Amino acid sequence: MRLTAILAIMPQEVNDERRTVKKPPISDPINLFDYETLARKFLPQVAYDVIAGGATDEITLRRNRSAFDEIMFRPRILVDVSCVDPSTTVLGQRIDFPVMLAPAGSHGRVHSDGELASARAAAAAGTIMVLSSASSFTLEEVAKAADGPRWYQQYFYRDRGLTMEMAHRAKDAGYSALCITLDSKTRPKKERDLRNNLPPSRLPNYAGLGLIENSPEPGITPSRTLMDLRDHSATWDYLDWFVSNSPLPVIPKGVMTGEDAYLCSQHGVDSIVVSNHGGEVLDTTFAAVEVLSEVVAAIGNAMEVYVDGGIRRGSDVVKALALGARAVLIGRPVFWGLAVDGEAGVLDVLRILRDEIETTMAMCGRPSIGSIDGSLISASPPLNPQRIR
Ligand SMILES: Cc1cc2nc3c(=O)[nH]c(=O)nc-3n(C[C@H](O)[C@H](O)[C@H](O)COP(=O)(O)O)c2cc1C
Repeated sequence: MRLTAILAIMPQEVNDERRTVKKPPISDPINLFDYETLARKFLPQVAYDVIAGGATDEITLRRNRSAFDEIMFRPRILVDVSCVDPSTTVLGQRIDFPVMLAPAGSHGRVHSDGELASARAAAAAGTIMVLSSASSFTLEEVAKAADGPRWYQQYFYRDRGLTMEMAHRAKDAGYSALCITLDSKTRPKKERDLRNNLPPSRLPNYAGLGLIENSPEPGITPSRTLMDLRDHSATWDYLDWFVSNSPLPVIPKGVMTGEDAYLCSQHGVDSIVVSNHGGEVLDTTFAAVEVLSEVVAAIGNAMEVYVDGGIRRGSDVVKALALGARAVLIGRPVFWGLAVDGEAGVLDVLRILRDEIETTMAMCGRPSIGSIDGSLISASPPLNPQRIR
């Protein structure tokens, strides 16, 4: 059933490739890496690569992951951890644990239920899904699928009327914040996709706008892509205009420097996402988690900061929080959960992360989110020659 569902939404060339893939014997995945391994075996190479890949040499992609391995815990003893509570709030909304679903286009590439399944899993897990405007279902369809809290991600378009229309559509459908992605300024060079000749995905949120991705549409001659719709000349003035007129809180995504974080705080946004788009846009940036301290130092307590990129373990989440993040987002692991078992797979991915967060918090002697602070971690060995006898 699951594989049939995947095949139904694959373009013909992907279907052909899929037929050559043998279903592996399933063992129970116990961590997010297992989910990726299983998903890789299920999926055609083209579908796996568009999700797993990054820009050019994929240095940032790898760094997003490896940076977490360089951060070490300083666990405390004799703290009462008989009750560990990973719940927190983001923009006043309670979530059961500090992990949200990052906006990521085309969940339908790996499962026919796409974002409908992801939204249900997020709601069941007690967290927020940030829906990509490049979703496989419309934002209204996703809103109807689950009643959990959700935010919407969109871009700044050349046509400011379209920018505001999207924002109002999201509000009307019950989304409670708008994530504005600012880091993908032009088409990135994702070499795996170029080699695979990746076919475009349909973009139902943009129906009727003459997008090549949505062709054919009755009576419409396609003339442009989503990238063409976006305003690549947008500057801080555009943000000012949007913040003044937005019907919902505004969350810029893709901040990677203290300077831009500070500017965001001066331009009236509600919170920010520190992100390098999972290594998908500009290669050889620092890992997102590496710039967290810089960002937090630049804005102090002015607003909440979220981070994504390479988060695969509960310990990664706790490290990000120790560095000042309010919560984190995950992108690729949602696809792996979906590919393996649809809604149940995404829910299991979230359950595993939550369990690992609770275990890490207990082991560290930090039983609540509020008790996690910078003293929990160190980036270098605490070697002090004067103290060594
Ligand atoms: C396949 C894929 C599609 C994505 N699509 C979007 C998108 O439509 N909008 C957006 O703001 N970010 C998008 N992202 C970036 C994610 O929001 C997030 O920043 C990134 O996936 C986090 O890194 P991780 O995958 O290592 O968790 C996408 C990422 C991937 C892997």
